[in-house]
Amino acid sequence: MRNFGKNIKITANNITLSYSDEGADNSPVIIFIHGFPFSKEMWNNQMEALKENYRVITYDVRGHGNSWSGTDDFTIELFVNDLIALMDALQINKTTLCGLSMGGYIALNAIENHPERFDALALCDTSCVADSPEAKEKRMKAIESIRENGVEKFADDSLKNFFAQDSFATKKEVIAGVREMIVNTTDKSIIKTLLALSTRTETCSKLAEIKVPVLIIIGDEDKITPPEAAHFMHENINGSVLSVIENAGHLSNLDNPNQFNDQLIKFLGKNARIQKTEGKRKNPEA
Ligand code: MLT
Repeated sequence: MRNFGKNIKITANNITLSYSDEGADNSPVIIFIHGFPFSKEMWNNQMEALKENYRVITYDVRGHGNSWSGTDDFTIELFVNDLIALMDALQINKTTLCGLSMGGYIALNAIENHPERFDALALCDTSCVADSPEAKEKRMKAIESIRENGVEKFADDSLKNFFAQDSFATKKEVIAGVREMIVNTTDKSIIKTLLALSTRTETCSKLAEIKVPVLIIIGDEDKITPPEAAHFMHENINGSVLSVIENAGHLSNLDNPNQFNDQLIKFLGKNARIQKTEGKRKNPEA
């Protein structure tokens, strides 16, 4: 029996995850994975744009949004195990994945280790490289700052790098919404995720093994995972499509949702597949 709607709770990999699941049972499935330190709410616009033709699932990565943290140290591998456990619990054998930044790191690791579970990938504002020594150092400084000054300062410092220049004047509400997601994440979870990101392994050496259709999306003003990282993945993933989103920074789906959605919908129209899933719908709020 399938639950559908927003903010549904499910047990997967021994913790409670929060997810939203909308769209028809017999539509192709797409699962969205958010970046750090955000929540599934960052995909609200894509959920609305896609749910008429797709079964759209967004979920809060462990320690983010309304999902529990558990007691284990965070790693990208643990996040992948959570994703696979979520798919198992929802009886989804195969899906298209769309991950942004940290969500892309999770998607790349997931396809490397579970290639049979995915039929297409959208990799947005992400990269296959591991953290350089300088990047690790920056994360350690961020951890110190969070311990000393709290999450609010971390949120304000981070926000400066997430958006295209114009958005600071034109998208104040969107930026306030992202700030809200960050400050609603506990300092403990942010620190555990910073450690997971700093110890993640590279996936560049496995790009040639990816056999499914891949869309690579990059904001032309992304300062965190810059366009060169997207070009590198494009050159190394056979048959991949690269789409540069204009007037968009690291959160390209929020900076320029229309262009982002157009590119994603075009890709899904060609590549998303209907998979057999079991069960009837049940609305938990009904
Ligand atoms: C993200 O948006 O997920 C982060 O910027 C990723 C990172 O810090 O490497």
